Amino acid sequence: MKFSIRTYGCQMNERDSEAIEALLVQNGHEQTDVEAEAELVIVNTCTIREKAESKALGKLGILCARKRKDPNFMVGAVGCVVQRLEHEILGFVPKLDFAIGTRSKAFLPEIIDVIKSGGGPVVDCGNEVEFNEKAWGEHKKGELTAFVNIILGCERRCAYCIVPSVRGVEWSRNPEKVLEEVQRVVDIGAKEVTLLGQSVLQYGVRNKTWADDYVSQRGYKEPFPRLLESVDSTSGIERIRFISSHPSRCTDEFARAMAELPNVCEHIHLPLQSGSDEVLKRMRRGYNTQRYQEAVAVIRKYMPDLAITTDIIVGFPGETEEQFEDTKKFMEEMNFDNAYIFKYSTRPGTPAAEWEDDVSEEEKTRRNQILLEDQNIRGQKINEQLIGSSVEVLVEGLSKRNDQKFSGRTRTNKIVIFDGIDDLTVGDLVKVRILSAMPQTIYGEIE
Ligand code: 5AD
Ligand code: SF4
Repeated sequence: MKFSIRTYGCQMNERDSEAIEALLVQNGHEQTDVEAEAELVIVNTCTIREKAESKALGKLGILCARKRKDPNFMVGAVGCVVQRLEHEILGFVPKLDFAIGTRSKAFLPEIIDVIKSGGGPVVDCGNEVEFNEKAWGEHKKGELTAFVNIILGCERRCAYCIVPSVRGVEWSRNPEKVLEEVQRVVDIGAKEVTLLGQSVLQYGVRNKTWADDYVSQRGYKEPFPRLLESVDSTSGIERIRFISSHPSRCTDEFARAMAELPNVCEHIHLPLQSGSDEVLKRMRRGYNTQRYQEAVAVIRKYMPDLAITTDIIVGFPGETEEQFEDTKKFMEEMNFDNAYIFKYSTRPGTPAAEWEDDVSEEEKTRRNQILLEDQNIRGQKINEQLIGSSVEVLVEGLSKRNDQKFSGRTRTNKIVIFDGIDDLTVGDLVKVRILSAMPQTIYGEIE
């Protein structure tokens, strides 16, 4: 049947949607981007903040309303909201045909058959502990930048975070499978591969990945540097990225690997969450600002051109004005290239949900705006320093805002807009001279 997938949330969800799409196509279904044409719409849901969850549930409600006119139309939910609510999701969206959790997607083709023959609704939130290669490894053809999962789940218990309860126990994938998948996506056109995990530096920590007699060419002992080294030697790969990282495992060896391996990009996304030691402690992040600084210093020591982006939460329970100011100051000190700033949202069942959400919505908005404005000024200054220099850009396509221009990214993950030249093709690596800069975007011309 014709199906369409609507995705909310992070890259993890984007990747899951892609794997679901490939799995369904393999099973004889046909993908369409036009929702109105689809006989089945699947919504991949996110529950990181309340707003994200209500958006996904709202979308499901609207889709289900279509069933009144078209009783054969099918609607399914997958992803993190399903895993959080399990059967209760039917209380929010009673007409749903199926609800599949984050680890049960391998069974989707069979579940669709069950529903077609009148056996719905089906709710499956099974918790497969290991990667089911059938469900996790498939890709669309021809993507320039591909995501490859390396770790499932998360076992850190940050006080605010719902992810451990919706993405399950941590499990690192077998390196041979990762390498096989990386080679496969590069063979069908990917130039850039992003290794995905809630905390990629946890690779090989909870379960064994490398054989005892494995010898790394550069003598790496830690599992993640070993993985980076092997991915780096994939033939045809140009750029390697990974998200997300946690400051507690930014070791010297990891920093050295980032610098030594030619295809690993000069960028790290290193969520800080707060610049106040008291708040970090209550968040149960497992580091303080000094440790965070040390983590950054060790990577910068090996990689002076490193770009660092981060995540910040404002209005965590009990965050005082002074603690907020500490975050503001620490962000200045760290001079982040970019920061995603979120207003704290209580997630049911998390440790922080026991505490009063005592920073008002207005105050959260105020703090959010202050940090955003600061970050814009900083981002602008950092980007202005690039004016006159020449950067390597991977051509990703036409600019979204202006289809006369091209858009691509630097190795430091900055978006560059530039004029095309004859014979320019998506996937080319070009040298662009930077002419002007904005906080989030830089502009230039091909050299
Ligand atoms: N409220 C607000 N932001 C959150 N994040 C995670 N949980 C919450 C929450 N309960 C943010 C963190 C994380 C990013 C993906 O989302 O900053 O790094
Ligand atoms: Fe991604 Fe977390 Fe949202 Fe799930 S809840 S989609 S893991 S951001």
